[in-house]
Amino acid sequence: MTDPDRYAVIGNPIAHSKSPDIHALFAGQTGQVMQYRHLLSGLDAFEETVRQFAAEGGKGLNVTVPFKTQAFELATSLTPRAKAAGAVNTLKFENNTIIGDNTDGRGLIVDIIRNAGYPIAGRRVLLLGAGGAARGVILPLLDQKPSRLVIANRTLERAFELADYFSDAGKIEVCGFDGINDEFDIVINATSAGLDDAMPPVPARVFTKHTLALDMVYGDKLTAFLRFAKEHGADVRDGFGMLVEQAAESFFVWRGVHPDTGAVFSALRAKP
Ligand code: ATR
Repeated sequence: MTDPDRYAVIGNPIAHSKSPDIHALFAGQTGQVMQYRHLLSGLDAFEETVRQFAAEGGKGLNVTVPFKTQAFELATSLTPRAKAAGAVNTLKFENNTIIGDNTDGRGLIVDIIRNAGYPIAGRRVLLLGAGGAARGVILPLLDQKPSRLVIANRTLERAFELADYFSDAGKIEVCGFDGINDEFDIVINATSAGLDDAMPPVPARVFTKHTLALDMVYGDKLTAFLRFAKEHGADVRDGFGMLVEQAAESFFVWRGVHPDTGAVFSALRAKP
């Protein structure tokens, strides 16, 4: 029997990541002979750790915090969506090339449209934040042709820079949190505020009972942003669906097979 192909998720910290569980279920479902584990990298040792993994025959890596920009720099070839995102969450080692891809945006779009059941085309979308996480999803959002895409950020300048960067791809409006006056159909929290249970100061008036509020982070309980959105009538969703969908897209990049994400979402969500 041949040895299983080896994959991992690299980050720091990494032990909490559910990616190995997700990919083990995908592999089981689709009959792919592969292994997928956690790979902790020292903060100053990303390149070395990646090169060693590849030299030992590793086939691919998912990359998470804080290494997505370093993975972008390390890749010898980038997909268009990784280029646009300015960050890489999926590496594929092929002969002597390191292919850098980004499946986060695709994961978010599939989760919103297919899993949550909210169309984006023709809808008003508010994106909170203008850091790496926001940048990674702008092009996929614009591709869906929302009626409006508004980026609100604490530091206005960063939001303007993003709007400028993507100006060829579509119209992006920019404002500070105190400049958000309208209702939105979809509100996405791409700030890192949720990580310490703080929330971006978004006004309650953006939410209606038809609004989907989505936080890109996930955890055992709702983030402060999602609690606030729920109190104001919105339908809420954390980043777990996006995580499973970006994993499925990475799995496809590596293995050429689309796994059944619904089954995996239910199996892992049910776990304590
Ligand atoms: P990431 O890669 O996770 O996006 P980042 O590039 O450091 O990380 O960006 C963090 C984002 O969260 C930024 O939009 C940041 O706002 P600023 O550009 O003004 O710094 C936003 N952010 C972090 N903490 C926040 C808070 N408490 N309230 C509002 N926005 C916050």
